[in-house]
Amino acid sequence: MDKLINNTTISLIHGDITIVKFDAIVNAANSTLMGGGGVDGAIHSAGGEDILNECKKIIKKIGSLPTGEAVITTAGKLPSKFVIHTVGPIWRGGRNNEAQLLMNSYNNSLKLAIQNGVKTIAFPSISTGVYRYPVQEASEIAISTILNYCKENNFEKIAMVLYSKDFYNIYAQTFETILQKWDGVKKVCKL
Ligand code: APR
Repeated sequence: MDKLINNTTISLIHGDITIVKFDAIVNAANSTLMGGGGVDGAIHSAGGEDILNECKKIIKKIGSLPTGEAVITTAGKLPSKFVIHTVGPIWRGGRNNEAQLLMNSYNNSLKLAIQNGVKTIAFPSISTGVYRYPVQEASEIAISTILNYCKENNFEKIAMVLYSKDFYNIYAQTFETILQKWDGVKKVCKL
């Protein structure tokens, strides 16, 4: 599903984020940046050791990456140019600032992308796997944060890459629902 929102194409893609070609893809990492399972494991295994080597240099400097923060590395052997690693919140019932931290992950990834001249960026559904964030709530935070970022900043394309069809359908429904109420639309066209 693609929609042109003001000057940015917002895309929902059902697929594997390691095979798409964007200026940057976002990784749902953990604070050690040493890789893991899920999309983190897939990105490191497909992207190769250059990604991990840059992560090691970053960790040597900062110790660990706090939840909601983001860092950028090469994408190694992946089709994209950069990987932006962010740490989403672990779901602990919703009373531990999870919503704000998840919003921070999207916002800080987008801010870092702009700082690095990134024009096209793809996100996975951060925190909705191992970290057990309920996907409906996570989709609302992801979509509204991305849309609000588009009010002031011009990306060419921002995509959500959903690994399962179920998650794709949830995000598609959320996207339509939020768009109906969103106040930032100057122009929308279905592409
Ligand atoms: N492409 C796109 N999305 C993917 C892929 C892929 N190749 N593989 C998994 N996903 C999806 C999952 O289906 C889920 O919807 O990414 C979403 C996030 O799930 P996780 O990868 O488990 O990430 P998260 O829930 O944020 O947990 C992060 O898991 O892998 C570890 O090291 C990671 O400790 C960290 C934790």
